[in-house]
Amino acid sequence: MNVLGISGSMQPNGNTAYLVKKILEAATEANAEATCEFVSLGGHHIYPCTGCLQCREKKECVITNDDWGKVAEKVVECDVLVIGTPVYYYDVCGQMKNFIDRTYSLWHDRKLSGKYVVTVAVNGDCGADRALETLEGFANAHEFIYAGSVTGKAFLPGDIANDKAALEAADKIGQKIATLG
Ligand SMILES: Cc1cc2nc3c(=O)[nH]c(=O)nc-3n(C[C@H](O)[C@H](O)[C@H](O)COP(=O)(O)O)c2cc1C
Repeated sequence: MNVLGISGSMQPNGNTAYLVKKILEAATEANAEATCEFVSLGGHHIYPCTGCLQCREKKECVITNDDWGKVAEKVVECDVLVIGTPVYYYDVCGQMKNFIDRTYSLWHDRKLSGKYVVTVAVNGDCGADRALETLEGFANAHEFIYAGSVTGKAFLPGDIANDKAALEAADKIGQKIATLG
């Protein structure tokens, strides 16, 4: 079973990355056969979808001069996607939205249908619910099988390590992932 964890934060070692990695660690601990990979969208160039609609015919995105394709390849290959975002203005951050919009090219043939998804949102204070709704909208459109969600409360870098409830939830969902597939 391939588990792919993605953090949409531009901070490669930020709070979202920490929580997503905790989930992967728990999955690996509970199932030695689970292959877990973590990808931070921070440091990757992901241009916005231009809405050209060429992917409806070509079944692939015509923007090829950025890093989206290599991340998308990993998403297509995984069995379980753990997708996490920091909350920006009560929603997903821009980098995550760019990533989501570009998956339109995978939607036409439902290339992600039947995979499991776990959604993760980290906010300083509020807005995680709406960010999770956005991630769930992405997941539902692609026909993922929803396997749960985790929210974290953290503002400054590293604060997430103090959110015991989030760490416990991450551990629990990681163990659940280990039983999937
Ligand atoms: C541009 C921006 C917008 C933000 N908007 C919100 C918000 O609406 N609600 C909130 O609780 N925290 C908000 N925050 C705080 C982040 O969600 C918080 O710092 C989070 O831990 C960052 O995660 P990261 O370390 O993975 O990037 C915002 C931060 C930034 C930089």
